[in-house]
Amino acid sequence: MKSLSEAPIKSGTRVFVRCDIDVPIENGTIAETFRLDNLLETLKFIIEKGGIPLIAGHVGRPKGQVIEKLSTRHFLPYFNEKLGENRFEILENLRFDPREEEKDPEFAKELASKAEMYVNESFGNDHREHTSIVELPKILPSYAGFRLQKEIEVLNKIVKTPEKPLIVIIGGAKPESKIPVIDKLLAMADFVLLSSLLSASWSKEIPRNLIISRNIDLKSTDIDSETIDDFKKYIRTAKTVLWAGPLGMYEKEEFIVGTREIALEIAKETEEKGIYSLVGGGDTISALDKLGLLNKFSFVSTGGSAMLQYLAEGTLPGITALN
Ligand code: 3PG
Repeated sequence: MKSLSEAPIKSGTRVFVRCDIDVPIENGTIAETFRLDNLLETLKFIIEKGGIPLIAGHVGRPKGQVIEKLSTRHFLPYFNEKLGENRFEILENLRFDPREEEKDPEFAKELASKAEMYVNESFGNDHREHTSIVELPKILPSYAGFRLQKEIEVLNKIVKTPEKPLIVIIGGAKPESKIPVIDKLLAMADFVLLSSLLSASWSKEIPRNLIISRNIDLKSTDIDSETIDDFKKYIRTAKTVLWAGPLGMYEKEEFIVGTREIALEIAKETEEKGIYSLVGGGDTISALDKLGLLNKFSFVSTGGSAMLQYLAEGTLPGITALN
């Protein structure tokens, strides 16, 4: 994998940057900018070399339809302010075209014709075998962005030498992305703790080190108070905690209780006992931002499902494609 620092960018070089721009947009305004802020080092580097970054990525799950509220035009004010007007180009939401999710070589050629080189700055999406993630690097000279490199460096340390006990907490709204990697996480962690929704989605026998919620319900809106107490006990035994996915429907004030209690407990252990806490994912970042706790952890990964899959598999399709 080559670093962006090795890319021969000259004045006017057009660089397709596959960015993680999947952030919440509310009434046309970006509700939380953590993922975007983490693109800036890479984008500014390209601009300082005289290049033109083509910012490209997906927002939400429009399923091949054009949905105005998921348009990348909502990002223009943010990037104009951070990068300067006319210093970059931004492509429309890649998922407005159904071919993005189909690993389509023709779509890849169309996208590749817009640039001379490719940069992956999209860790949070690198578990997806989508056109802009795995096909474009086959066509263009390809490089890893600075944030992607940082994510890999941090996660490699956890994979190789985690300080034990290691507790993994999994929640979030996309059980189909997370359930497949739980077996491997159970093999590396001392305990894996599941939200109510994830517990309800677990259909196999429950191994000794899988801790499920007391309230198991596919329609659950939060973990209950007994589960909160259980989870806190496990957190207090840990030297390393990994957490991906809010534990309830944090968007509503009445259902953020479990997420807040668990976040506060991990933050307290991090500050007082110096445990290593790694949290990640778009919804987790939004929930922690809402709670004002985003800066209380050792490292915040831009990826949730991607982070868990990387820890379980040691790589991701988007990273393999760069190699
Ligand atoms: C995320 O926020 O988890 C990533 O952007 C991936 O989104 P997806 O699950 O819709 O592919």
